[in-house]
Amino acid sequence: RTGLIRIPVVVHVIWHTATENISDALIQSQIDVLNEDFRRLNTDASLVPSVFAGVAADCRIEFALAVRGPGCAVTTGITRTNTAVTGWTRNQTGMMSAAGGGHDPWDDTKYLNVWVCNYTDGLLGKGSFPGMPNQGVRVHYRAFGSGSLDPTYNLGRTMTHEVGHYLNLNHIWGDEPACTGSDNVADTPNQADEHYGTPSFPQVSCSNGPNGDMFMNYMDYTDDVAMFMFTAGQSERMDATLHTQRTGLLA
Ligand code: ARG
Ligand code: ZN
Ligand code: CA
Repeated sequence: RTGLIRIPVVVHVIWHTATENISDALIQSQIDVLNEDFRRLNTDASLVPSVFAGVAADCRIEFALAVRGPGCAVTTGITRTNTAVTGWTRNQTGMMSAAGGGHDPWDDTKYLNVWVCNYTDGLLGKGSFPGMPNQGVRVHYRAFGSGSLDPTYNLGRTMTHEVGHYLNLNHIWGDEPACTGSDNVADTPNQADEHYGTPSFPQVSCSNGPNGDMFMNYMDYTDDVAMFMFTAGQSERMDATLHTQRTGLLA
């Protein structure tokens, strides 16, 4: 694909305390991060180890806050809900419905729905794979946007990671230990497990030396400052998803 795809986004801010009611500016900063990361315009792209630079990809996907709502009315692409719910845990879905104390999605075939809320169990975010119910992504308010409150996750990469899931990317280690799992992408090395923090290069596992694991991929679990690439294979997988299960976003 040579053209660009632009995905319309609606951000539902589900807040209980004033701090959780994040600013429009922080929301726009998150959209900007997506537009950098999915176009390989991120300033840290140059940190990709040279052995992996050849597969680092411009995914040619852009994001914009919706300018028209479900009834075609002009919108900011942001909704704000003052909820009585003080916090959520990973398997709860209430933030995604008015009945549950949150906000109903806009047509989830046409918009990328994002719910920003207060997770109290350490979860940073969740992205739904194609075919799952409750289509969209959820992100902790402290990890949403560039310059957010969580010092380890303040560059907006949680959202980049969750949108990866939303477009059918698996974790880079394939979620199974001992090298048995795969992310179904050929140009990401087979990797034993997730990484945290800011690993030094290389990290060899699964006989994948000398270059080792691609822990600086957005689909690992490293700190925001330590993840800065998607690969061409991941880009192809997301593109295939956009042209099959998520064609409504292209309209
Ligand atoms: N744990 C989350 C998930 O599995 C997201 C991890 C995001 N990592 C980050 N550096 N922001 O979807
Ligand atoms: Zn994940
Ligand atoms: Ca792989």
